[in-house]
Amino acid sequence: MNVRLDKFLSSQTDLTRTDIKKLLWKRKISVNGKILRDGSIKIDPETSEIIADGRKILYRDKVYIILNKPEGFVCATEDKHEKTVMDLLGDDIKRKDIFPAGRLDKDTTGMVLITNDGTLSHRILSPKKHIPKYYIVKLAESFQEDYVRQFAEGVIIDGGEKCLPSKVKRFPDCEKTAFIELHEGKYHQIKRMFSAVENSVEKLCRIQMGGLLMPEKLAIGEYMEIMHKDVENLLKSQCFEEVFRNITENFSSYWINMQ
Ligand code: URA
Repeated sequence: MNVRLDKFLSSQTDLTRTDIKKLLWKRKISVNGKILRDGSIKIDPETSEIIADGRKILYRDKVYIILNKPEGFVCATEDKHEKTVMDLLGDDIKRKDIFPAGRLDKDTTGMVLITNDGTLSHRILSPKKHIPKYYIVKLAESFQEDYVRQFAEGVIIDGGEKCLPSKVKRFPDCEKTAFIELHEGKYHQIKRMFSAVENSVEKLCRIQMGGLLMPEKLAIGEYMEIMHKDVENLLKSQCFEEVFRNITENFSSYWINMQ
């Protein structure tokens, strides 16, 4: 595979064409140890070692990053007023073509997938594919067992919209902490669902999407890159009770910390 050096750098990083020109001029770009000053030179990124401003630039067609989003960041590539999830990524991983696949509210924490794979993103977001998303919810008032029935029937949220049936459960020995599975992503959906049953959400954390669980070791604000084969877990069908059991038994730090 032979591509122009400047085009390669532009596609794999967040460097602008001007940045790349400047780095070439400052002798800060090398290919296999040789400093190059001409961006139009053809290189083979699959077999060459390319260094730009001290960073080794690897060729990757598709990238998948799991981020544990903190509160206070919006899920967007750019925002005039707010900090975005992109601000949490280091220069080593930033590139122009990545975006968050789906949105969490500014005050919601937890799992966000950032990718440049438009097809996958479409599958994650499409209501037809029914990729379930799992959240831990800290409620203002005690969980009522009748929520299980109401959510299974599909609650009507403000504005008269009926939600798809969803599963919900209380964590053991926690009056106010629940676990919920959603198959769609309406605006502020979980907050609106609990307000429809006269409760309200104090904290919300997404922990799993399809069969892809947020790694327990990923601290808030941290991210990690995952492989395409791991991403395929997203599409594996899930049993709510098993997901709940796994989170209850092995990820207690998540729900206990929510209390
Ligand atoms: N439901 C909400 O209310 N907020 C989120 O961020 C995700 C689901």
